[in-house]
Amino acid sequence: MTVTDISQRKRFLAEDNIYLPHIVVIEKIIDESPGVGTFHFNFKDEKLRKEFSFEAGQFAELSVFGVGEATFCITSSPTRSDHLECAVNRVGAVTNALHRLGVGAEMGFRGPFGNSFPLELMEGKNLVFVGGGIGLAPLRSLIWYAIDNRDKYKNIDIIYGARSPADLSFKYDLESWGKDKTVNMVTTVDKGDKSWKGREGFVPTVLEQAAPSAKDAVAIVCGPPVMIRFTFPVLEKLGFTPEQMITTLEKRMKCGVGKCGRCNIGNLYVCRDGPVFSYAQIKNFISSEY
Ligand code: FES
Repeated sequence: MTVTDISQRKRFLAEDNIYLPHIVVIEKIIDESPGVGTFHFNFKDEKLRKEFSFEAGQFAELSVFGVGEATFCITSSPTRSDHLECAVNRVGAVTNALHRLGVGAEMGFRGPFGNSFPLELMEGKNLVFVGGGIGLAPLRSLIWYAIDNRDKYKNIDIIYGARSPADLSFKYDLESWGKDKTVNMVTTVDKGDKSWKGREGFVPTVLEQAAPSAKDAVAIVCGPPVMIRFTFPVLEKLGFTPEQMITTLEKRMKCGVGKCGRCNIGNLYVCRDGPVFSYAQIKNFISSEY
């Protein structure tokens, strides 16, 4: 598992105060699904704009001045780094305040934090992405990374679903991956509407029907906790070992660097030891705590 060391995590933080955010400016906001918008933004500081880097799977803290800070995965890909993107689900005070900001407004940004997807484990393998709802956000960073480095990977399967057609996120990417002949894309919804011509069914069920081979494969899973819990047993049934299953956990975080203790799950801190984990690392406590 790629784990960036602490100096790496602090690389783009103010030297004397790790809680001091950088200023970023919103360049675009895309409405994804009810309550969810993808914010495209860039650093105000030109040097940082040129030098900032991150790895797929890392997260950041976005802040609205006078309101507070919240945690988001970076959903854009490091291979397309002229700006950064985070998907914001309107669920609390900070996310509501973010949604009240418009293009040109300034936000605070701290990061990148956490480890990243284990590229060394994935190279030369078949990749099976399994996502649900807004859980596609962290997978999307890695999917674009893999597509932009297509010769490093064998098959790419993407199984993605949401409760309804309206809840599907990143529809423009789904369309693009659906047209990509080097990608096997399956999109499903729990229940379609009158206009839905695609597949219906829960993600774990559709995964079982698609039955991707576990041979030389790594499965990367992210979605609502209930979807994750039902997906791991299906992958086990298909022959995936706990080491071949990767997920990224979302926990309410505060400091982002292992100091406040807000994000612990079992004996791990999601911000410091994750957010990317193998199922082998978390299987003993995922059903009770997540
Ligand atoms: S967010 Fe503070 S310890 Fe993880």
